Amino acid sequence: MARTVLRTPLCDLLGIEYPVILAGMGPVAGGMEPVATAELAAAVSNAGGLGMIGGAGYPPERLREEIRRVRELTDKPFGVDLLLPSDVLAASDGGERLPADPRSLIPQELVEAVKRLAADLGIEYVEMPREQARPRRGVMDIRGQTEVVIEEKVPVFASGLGSPAPWIERLKANGTKVISLVGNVKAAKRVAAAGVDIVVAQGTEAGGHTGRVATLPLVPQVIDAVAPTPVVAAGGIGDGRGLAAVLALGAIGAWVGTAFLVADEANQPELQKQRILAATEEDTRVTRLYSGKPMRNITNPLIEKWEEAGLRALPMGLQGLLIQDLMYSIRRAGRNELLMNAAGQIAGLLTRSRPAAEILYDMVTEAADILANRLPKTVTAVPGDGA
Ligand SMILES: Cc1cc2nc3c(=O)[nH]c(=O)nc-3n(C[C@H](O)[C@H](O)[C@H](O)COP(=O)(O)O)c2cc1C
Repeated sequence: MARTVLRTPLCDLLGIEYPVILAGMGPVAGGMEPVATAELAAAVSNAGGLGMIGGAGYPPERLREEIRRVRELTDKPFGVDLLLPSDVLAASDGGERLPADPRSLIPQELVEAVKRLAADLGIEYVEMPREQARPRRGVMDIRGQTEVVIEEKVPVFASGLGSPAPWIERLKANGTKVISLVGNVKAAKRVAAAGVDIVVAQGTEAGGHTGRVATLPLVPQVIDAVAPTPVVAAGGIGDGRGLAAVLALGAIGAWVGTAFLVADEANQPELQKQRILAATEEDTRVTRLYSGKPMRNITNPLIEKWEEAGLRALPMGLQGLLIQDLMYSIRRAGRNELLMNAAGQIAGLLTRSRPAAEILYDMVTEAADILANRLPKTVTAVPGDGA
């Protein structure tokens, strides 16, 4: 059979064959290594989509290595995704505003509450040896990371949180295409005004950090708000039906995360992968527990207890320090089902692991079949002339 053809303006904009972008999926359960390493990114790029390195957890020089590795694995375009929140510790100012020990910013009553959660779950609370704990300024070096992206002249840059405005001129001067993820119309207008090339409208059903508006209402409203800037849809797209649906909404492509979490090349611990495969559409929950910002995860008893306790989350970065010893204790106790396991509501559709190229190719082949064959067979549509 001939190879599927499915082209949209996104293909010309990014120099790719299919209008599907691998979501930039960052660190796995507290480490710096992302789900989307060079292997997964290259697998998607080589298959005709756009692969993305989830670079948010990498120190700058480690990010540079990963960019060079993806270039060894593919000669196709690829991207790097970073998180650019404004409230992160050690953010774009390099951490100058931080006190000598950022832990001094954490209210003691929250530490006690976290200890009680551990006790409730039968986990012995043990402090992480301080030499293993995160370096003072090592939470996220956004300034250093973005410098590496600029120096390495990556083809595509995506910001998953916040605005790339401070860097956009230098990125574009290199020919880098700039993408921004948003969860509402206000943020979409802000990044479009800053001059991004593509806005990704991400619905609440998405895995990872997410907003409150679902994909179906969000995408057309963002399209109208930022025209003529093109929009790619994200959140809940798991097969060709989802891809065809967002193209019908007017998006020029799909940004897909959860469906690639079970790819053979995804850097996802086996336990987390199995929990995604076993999940139903109702097994995810949004919580601020792991990062301080709302994040959709496969739920677990720790998330349920945190939410039940109604505890206030700290800003991104500080929240990571608050739960650092709890996460260490969980690992020590072998209770890894309580670690972060970001995934979206489409997890319920996923039943098996397979190569990323197969996931991508099945998705575009089904979407092409829906648009070219199935819809014309089942839908009678003859637009009137308004008379
Ligand atoms: C495990 C995981 C990690 C993620 N990490 C990031 C990240 O570091 N940066 C980012 O921009 N988005 C991140 N996201 C969100 C994705 O970019 C994307 O918007 C989302 O996965 C799309 O919805 P879907 O999961 O329903 O496909 C993550 C999502 C998941 C599932």
